[in-house]
Amino acid sequence: MKKMSTILAAALLCLAAKGEVNYQTIPLPQSITLDASGKTTALVKGQVVAYPAENALMKRNAEFAQEFLGLVPQPEVEAKKKAKKKDVAPVRLALGLASDNPDAYQITVDKKGILVQGASESGVFYGIQTLRKSIEQETGDSVLLPWVVIQDAPRFQYRGAMLDCARHFFPADFIKTFIDILALHGVNKFHWHLTDDQGWRLEVKALPELVAKGSHRPYTIVGPNVGAKDLSNAIFDGKPEGGFYSREQIRDIVAYAAERYITIIPEIDLPGHMVAALTAYPELGCTGGPYVVKRHWGIDTDVLCAGNPKTLEFIKTVLSEVCELFPSKFIHIGGDECPRKRWEKCPKCQAKMKELKLEKEAQLQTYINQEVENFLATKGRELIGWDEIVQGGLSENATVMYWRGGKENVTAAQKHHRVIVTNKWFCYFDYYQLANHATQPMAFTRDLPLSKVYSHEPIPEELTAEEAKYILGAQCNVWSEYIASPDHVMYMLLPRLAAISEVQWTQPEKKDFEQFKPRLAEFEKMYHRLGYKYCTNYE
Ligand code: ACM
Ligand code: ZN
Repeated sequence: MKKMSTILAAALLCLAAKGEVNYQTIPLPQSITLDASGKTTALVKGQVVAYPAENALMKRNAEFAQEFLGLVPQPEVEAKKKAKKKDVAPVRLALGLASDNPDAYQITVDKKGILVQGASESGVFYGIQTLRKSIEQETGDSVLLPWVVIQDAPRFQYRGAMLDCARHFFPADFIKTFIDILALHGVNKFHWHLTDDQGWRLEVKALPELVAKGSHRPYTIVGPNVGAKDLSNAIFDGKPEGGFYSREQIRDIVAYAAERYITIIPEIDLPGHMVAALTAYPELGCTGGPYVVKRHWGIDTDVLCAGNPKTLEFIKTVLSEVCELFPSKFIHIGGDECPRKRWEKCPKCQAKMKELKLEKEAQLQTYINQEVENFLATKGRELIGWDEIVQGGLSENATVMYWRGGKENVTAAQKHHRVIVTNKWFCYFDYYQLANHATQPMAFTRDLPLSKVYSHEPIPEELTAEEAKYILGAQCNVWSEYIASPDHVMYMLLPRLAAISEVQWTQPEKKDFEQFKPRLAEFEKMYHRLGYKYCTNYE
């Protein structure tokens, strides 16, 4: 197929601008080669889509083609017979694309029909998503697809998004919508923040008090209080807040995500951010409590007692059930913002330090991390933690989630830790989207405009090419202190997720914010049609 002339390219772009087929979607595919002939092949609603019959995942992919493109799934052999009779250009889903990247796909539209071929089943899924987005503006029953070869593969293997369901609870149905939104943007990891000082959201069969006592609070502070020591003038909303995910719901959501090639990485934040758990099991704290599920924000001094043997027992019981429910290789154990104040005064913690010949309280956290890492290894799992976990020393196997925005990413990669980039200056979607805060709902007090998200480069310049391989990818984080409804989650997520999806997917030399903006304007129509809320103006 010849490269298309510039004039024809301009003409086709012009057509696209009028709301016709547009392959230049989000995230932008790596290579789109339109055929110089200008010919088209019709994609007709109700037409058969053929898939290799023996492959259940490909059958599921064909069902997605049905949902997104209006096609009728049929095993390949039968479809071939039918095509001969009916003289309709075949639409085929196939494997066997040669690529090292399992998420790679190629879409070929030519006189033979429409072929979506993947290096694996996930690649085919992404190809279907790209076709779906390309024809979004077409409302008729027959869409004329310009002949094209689209070759695409994501830049990073880890393309994540985190949702904090601890500060505010979001219902299971919305979690599925959230997953649909991630899939639309080529995201393949959903980091699920399930526990924190303000709520414990995961049912644990062996520890029923966690949700019985830890998943509800009677009211919540109004407005920001981060850093405020004196809450005597604080206003509380008087509204009970709560909820948790049953084991059955979790299994259902994990399966829902897996069909969309999204792995759920659960996070149990420890040993800090544990007040909801301490409310349920106060003997796990250094002072013995009593504790209450927090009704305001910030970092709490009450954490798990590192010297009490029951603490490790508790962690292992929780993580055993986590591993039962979540097949993810990676299990996130938090590790951020753990003050040592209680450990300094606690006889049990001090005795543990003596026993282990530790010099600093920080090393108690390392001791917990190592125990947890060894425990997870017995289940064939690996640990991820926020970047503070490096502080007291860490085994090379641990993966570091970089968030504090200093040089923690460089240090971790140089020490050969795998790194996931969630740099707060570029990836924290709880920050304001516009400089004029008065026009938006209350958010965390910093700004993160769309253009800044888009500009992000996750690989720091300081790394050699060899060290850069330790950067697995990037992730946005939606913390929910100030986000209490699904609509508001979507508003904070969109369209910034579109921007970070190109950070995660598209090669940096192809990124151009000015060129991204008109594509986003088209893409937003899809958000609108699907009922997703989004920030309609951006900077
Ligand atoms: C974090 O934002 N505390 C990871
Ligand atoms: Zn203690």
